[in-house]
Amino acid sequence: MKKNILVLGASSGIGFDLVKSLLIEGHIVYCGARRLEKLDPLRILGAKIFKVDVRNEDDIENIVNTFVYEKGIIDIVYANAGYAIAGPVEETSIEKAKQQFDTNVFGSARVARTVLPIMREQGFGRIIFTSSIAGRVSTSMNSWYSASKHAVNGLVKGLAQEVQGFNIKLITVEPGCVQTEFDSIQLQDMLDTSTKPEYAEVVSKSHSFLKQAYGKGSTPDSTVKTMLKAGFSSRPKLSYQSTWDSKLMNLTQLIIGEGAMGRLFVSIIRKS
Ligand SMILES: NC(=O)c1ccc[n+]([C@@H]2O[C@H](COP(=O)([O-])OP(=O)(O)OC[C@H]3O[C@@H](n4cnc5c(N)ncnc54)[C@H](OP(=O)(O)O)[C@@H]3O)[C@@H](O)[C@H]2O)c1
Repeated sequence: MKKNILVLGASSGIGFDLVKSLLIEGHIVYCGARRLEKLDPLRILGAKIFKVDVRNEDDIENIVNTFVYEKGIIDIVYANAGYAIAGPVEETSIEKAKQQFDTNVFGSARVARTVLPIMREQGFGRIIFTSSIAGRVSTSMNSWYSASKHAVNGLVKGLAQEVQGFNIKLITVEPGCVQTEFDSIQLQDMLDTSTKPEYAEVVSKSHSFLKQAYGKGSTPDSTVKTMLKAGFSSRPKLSYQSTWDSKLMNLTQLIIGEGAMGRLFVSIIRKS
């Protein structure tokens, strides 16, 4: 059945490919991101595009209200916008960490807060958040990004219970390394952030480990498929790991525990 679907963070990578798949399946898609020019190919394919910065409530209200005005209902929302800062916590300003949270956590919350009253009123709806395996497993030099995705997971777990009685489902999709524009922003930030010689070795090794991991990373396909499953399955799970490495990391941490997982990462990075 044709659904009305909103996708935020659609101008590249996972979100871009997701919108293409949704359009191929014949759904009505409204999508947004800050770089309007990068959304234009999706407009040509049939999506309606909007300039949306998830740090800005007016932008979110604009796309959501236009959608409801023009189409009546919203079936599924994908809160996919996000990016990663990286580098030692000691060298990362709290202001920069706040910006990370503003997009990844509060941006997701702004999207949810804007669509929830509409979904409550219509009596159904589904919001899928692109979290990360970093929402379960923290790794060196990614502490603030991991913190932001742990926060997303925590938010979704609680909120899912709050809205269960309204027939609204909330789901996280948790990729590992996926080849998009994401890694170049993260890896460059790791180098830019670190200046103290005391961290030079671990930064260099973490950088080389992550670069290799992204080189072997998944294409967006498995994550897009998982997002479709989260959106359309009649009994969706609360969370899905969407790549082989996120499945492996989740399982390993469940078996050996968080402390041993941290020690395992330290030893892997030392050998990088
Ligand atoms: N790639 C990975 O390895 C990986 C792994 C785990 C989780 N993820 C998560 O997957 C999601 C998608 O990332 P991706 O891998 O597809 O990376 P990407 O290619 O860099 O895409 C990120 C998307 O988020 C949008 N975005 C960033 N800040 C935004 C803001 N303030 N307002 C609106 N849109 C914003 C970007 O659009 P504009 O720049 O045009 O605004 C872009 O469309 C993110 O939430 C990321 O944390 C990625």
